[in-house]
Amino acid sequence: MRITIFGTGYVGLVTGTCLAEVGNHVVCVDVDEAKIACLQRGEVPFFEPGLAALIRRNSAEGRLRFTTEAAEGVAHGRLQFIAVGTPPAEDGSADLGHVLAVAQSIAEHMADPKIVVNKSTVPVGSADRVRACISAELQRRGADIDFDVVSNPEFLKEGAAVDDFMKPDRVIVGTGRQASAELLRQLYAPFNRNHDRLIMMDVRSAELTKYAANAMLATKISFMNELANIADRVDADIERVRIGIGADPRIGYDFIYPGAGYGGSCFPKDVKALVRTAYDMDYAPQLLQAVEDVNERQQGYLYSRIQAHFAGELAGLTFALWGLAFKPNTEDMREAPSRRLIESLWAAGASVRAFDPKAAGEARRIYGERSDLVLCSKLEDALDGADALVIVTEWNVFRSPDFESMRTRLKRPVIFDGRNLYEPRPVAALGFTYYAVGRPL
Ligand code: UGA
Repeated sequence: MRITIFGTGYVGLVTGTCLAEVGNHVVCVDVDEAKIACLQRGEVPFFEPGLAALIRRNSAEGRLRFTTEAAEGVAHGRLQFIAVGTPPAEDGSADLGHVLAVAQSIAEHMADPKIVVNKSTVPVGSADRVRACISAELQRRGADIDFDVVSNPEFLKEGAAVDDFMKPDRVIVGTGRQASAELLRQLYAPFNRNHDRLIMMDVRSAELTKYAANAMLATKISFMNELANIADRVDADIERVRIGIGADPRIGYDFIYPGAGYGGSCFPKDVKALVRTAYDMDYAPQLLQAVEDVNERQQGYLYSRIQAHFAGELAGLTFALWGLAFKPNTEDMREAPSRRLIESLWAAGASVRAFDPKAAGEARRIYGERSDLVLCSKLEDALDGADALVIVTEWNVFRSPDFESMRTRLKRPVIFDGRNLYEPRPVAALGFTYYAVGRPL
């Protein structure tokens, strides 16, 4: 099939590349000239395991192209995917500006029937707005061309995006038209393993399914963070509790890890947007509001522990930070708990020596050169002369460190572990003061 993808972020680029990988001919369009030039050279503008090799191969084999020309993109595909960002507006709602700009551009160049597929995470009713935008432009042009707008939300995780796309749990397609449903069924047939992964529904339910999935996962995390805070106060161990409840298949072991709060480009934004949608409909979403509030508080958890340990005297201290990315296997620092922590430490007059396997460049881009941020290229170097170590991201390389050498490098043997990577007793027996989340000292 001939496919056009608007937007070359995580979702657009992974979608385009994986669709090319199974034999489709894909054109990816982006307004960012630097990004397109970089992709045309076979370079990937962000780190995502496995993606670069797939892009190079599919480009070399002529199934994947990149352009800034919307007209070229619109002419190419029968299917026109919208996969651009929906950043939060001031009031927490999702800003549809980029989505509608793409819709406008498709309508301006459209010369034959199209199926517009929305992959961006958009509030319920957005497909209707895309439809209205395209209809208005076609009417203005006096063009009578058939089109449909389908909702096809994406469920991939950063760091595992290629695998998630190639082996989806499910593919959600929202459309009221049989012909669109059939085409999407054909498109996704190569990704059916063992059984059909396609779930068809109406457009609005598909749009809400995306928010429901992320809100449910965020709820699990906030629930565990709340329980961890209670465990802290009643001297119970949240790790034992986690293992105890996860054994119930109705609860399960996935996504019940307490920590430094959820971050990234999706959960914080999507929970806020769903809360906003509910309020807009005169419904007070108490549970979702609490999910967000608990996360807001949890992002300050490590800092409040640090403050308590040092009795609020942080000026002049140095903190070693392991992990800057919002989670492992990505360089993404959007809404990363590390950022809140670093900024709080700076505000208190402390400085930071940080190590992250992938995100140092991103930290430099965000914060620039400054004397109170040293970005180390080895995890051991971050410890040198630091008054404590703070672990913010659970990269595998942090899981089995040389504690003896850590003790000699750190000025004081104190660890604040925001991801519960170690067993408290053995670490304490090695002479460390070890703080974990929801675990007794
Ligand atoms: C999330 C969803 O998992 C994807 O299914 C969805 O497609 C994507 O958002 C999206 O909407 O585009 P992602 O943001 O890449 O994916 O990251 P996750 O792996 O879900 O992690 C989100 C946050 O939750 C991270 O900060 C992570 O540290 C935190 N988390 C996760 C916990 O604190 N505890 C857990 O048990 C699991």
